[in-house]
Amino acid sequence: VVPFSENERMPISLPFTSQRTDSSFTHVPVALGPRSYDIHIGAGVAIHAMESLTALGQGLRVAVITDTHVAPFYAESVVQALKGAGFVVSLIVVEAGEISKDWATLAKICDEILSAKIERGDLLLALGGGVIGDLVGFAASIVRRGVRFVQMPTTLLAQVDSSVGGKTGINSSHGKNLIGSFYQPSLVLVDTTFLNTLPEREFKAGYAEVIKYGLINNIDFFDWCETHWREIFSGEGGAREHAIATSCRAKAAVVAKDEHEKGDRALLNLGHTFGHALERMTGYDAARLVHGEGVSIGMAMAFRFSAERELCVWDDAIRVSDHLCQVGLPTTLQDIPGEHCSVDALLDAMLQDKKVVRGELTFILANGIGQSFIAKDIPISDVRAFLEEELQRG
Ligand code: NAD
Ligand code: GLY
Repeated sequence: VVPFSENERMPISLPFTSQRTDSSFTHVPVALGPRSYDIHIGAGVAIHAMESLTALGQGLRVAVITDTHVAPFYAESVVQALKGAGFVVSLIVVEAGEISKDWATLAKICDEILSAKIERGDLLLALGGGVIGDLVGFAASIVRRGVRFVQMPTTLLAQVDSSVGGKTGINSSHGKNLIGSFYQPSLVLVDTTFLNTLPEREFKAGYAEVIKYGLINNIDFFDWCETHWREIFSGEGGAREHAIATSCRAKAAVVAKDEHEKGDRALLNLGHTFGHALERMTGYDAARLVHGEGVSIGMAMAFRFSAERELCVWDDAIRVSDHLCQVGLPTTLQDIPGEHCSVDALLDAMLQDKKVVRGELTFILANGIGQSFIAKDIPISDVRAFLEEELQRG
């Protein structure tokens, strides 16, 4: 048994990192001292990596955890590649969707991991989107007080955001991601071929998180996305890989400086205070709103709120909304199908945000595109007035 403290010091180095002479895979390190690990990005990297782990594989147990949408496409090939490398493999499949980020599914996963006799030095492999990544990461952090895990993200959102940085967790009836831990993976394998089966709506939702990095601190990247978004969506040329690698580098840089969100990591939550409240209001019902769509509306609102407070010019707020609309993402509360919620219900949901300090709301606002900042102590009355306007938008 590998003690927990050593467990955290066991990144998984891939043999091909130093052997490959072609540049078809991009390598992004996440520098976190003893918890450092690598992100490998490229078409085919997942199976190639599994097959390359023969030195690690002999007799080691792996539990591959995935969901009901992803399993039919990829479970078999991943399991076979792992078996081929000498691992003893078990497969755990949970219901697809945000609804699975709950206690019951977490308990099921933990029980099945223990039934599979996974020990601390063995591996969990999260094969799926952000829901699977968050769930498996949380299970990894609590089963036997810590088991190594690998992120193998299959949505654009997970490839550019949730698989990196070690935020794990589940939702509560009180709100999004309120129960969880910081627990870093040992390896992240971003295989862009997984995106070929992703529904278009989910691809768009992930693109909201790509744009987020431009809006936070990289106007050049936002400009580039405005010009190249069609190639990112179609997968032609290298635009998709470039967008994913740029996003992963941006996230790795923020996480390396502020792993536990004591400061600037909060910038990554641009659009999330509004977005998380909207997800809660819509009951995590994917037919109405998925996470990335909530972030899209939230970012457009954060820019309008910034413009109203004369922190940025209206032209920037309009430019942000225009680009999100152009790719087919929602930008207003009216874009959410179904009944609208009240200002009180929205405010109540926002006050459960993890950035709330003694009842005061912290927002990520902007002085312009690429100039986001953390705004503390925003008066609730100002937020109320803004939400009333937003609800009256037509
Ligand atoms: P998701 O995991 O629900 O995946 C979206 C849908 O796509 C699901 O139905 C899934 O089954 C399906 N799917 C996944 N990959 C597929 C593929 N390759 N082909 C076909 N279908 C596929 O949602 P998501 O958007 O990936 O992640 C959202 C979650 O991530 C939210 O819970 C959010 O809170 C979390 N998140 C976490 C972090 C973090 O830092 N930990 C960051 C951002 C978001
Ligand atoms: N997605 C926000 C974070 O990782 O901090």
